[in-house]
Amino acid sequence: MIYAQVMAGGIGSRMGHTERPKQFLNLADKPIIIHTLEKFSLIAEFDKIIVSIHPKWMQYAKDLIAKYIDDERFVVIEGGAERNDTVMGAINYIKSNFGLNEADVLVMHDAVRPFVSRRIIMDNIEAASHYKAVDTVIPATDTIVKSENGIISEIPVRDQMFQGQTPQTVNIQAFESQYNSMTIEERNILSDSAKVMLLAGYEVGVVNGDESNIKVTRPYDLRIANIIAQENLDVQ
Ligand code: CTP
Repeated sequence: MIYAQVMAGGIGSRMGHTERPKQFLNLADKPIIIHTLEKFSLIAEFDKIIVSIHPKWMQYAKDLIAKYIDDERFVVIEGGAERNDTVMGAINYIKSNFGLNEADVLVMHDAVRPFVSRRIIMDNIEAASHYKAVDTVIPATDTIVKSENGIISEIPVRDQMFQGQTPQTVNIQAFESQYNSMTIEERNILSDSAKVMLLAGYEVGVVNGDESNIKVTRPYDLRIANIIAQENLDVQ
């Protein structure tokens, strides 16, 4: 089975004070999370699309999804305190409701990346048939500088540097067994699913992301996202 998880369990603290967590703010004509869910709804390959929501916003999210989306594959569950808890919440939901098979994969995506393309999602699904973990990346535009204690410790060659986006895709059984073998400290440090799999010794396949697949993190991103969403609306 191929499962999707749209991750909306956060509160968006870097967005500053807003009346709702950022995933529920409007972009042009509809909430950010709805733009994202519509992209996933168009992919017939998904057997289930799990939407993980912050516990305080469950009813709000269910009402919103019912208003905009007509797709029986969607299920809404509670997200967890940390990103990994949100991922494991979806995996536990899958295990208890559908059981787990060796080939089952989970395509995880940030709810706040509303401009993900069909091509990126399909490339993740395809790459997951070759690798137990897949990450979506774009080449670094700026030089990446590693710095500790206020001084530079390393400037890696830019051609070898990439920036991580989502989706990230994992073989569910492989991820779960690796996660269960990690200590609490390791779990706290490894908030990135691809990193969890990398440290377990798996090859992590790479899918080309896109510059437009931005993550709405701060108020400036929201302004940019609104412009892109309005342009998309105008060309429809
Ligand atoms: N997310 C989640 N569960 C968490 C934390 C984050 O599902 N425990 C989701 C967020 O809702 C978001 C995505 O992961 O859609 C990307 O995370 P980020 O942009 O960091 O979102 P927040 O954690 O909400 O933002 P901040 O770090 O500014 O508080």
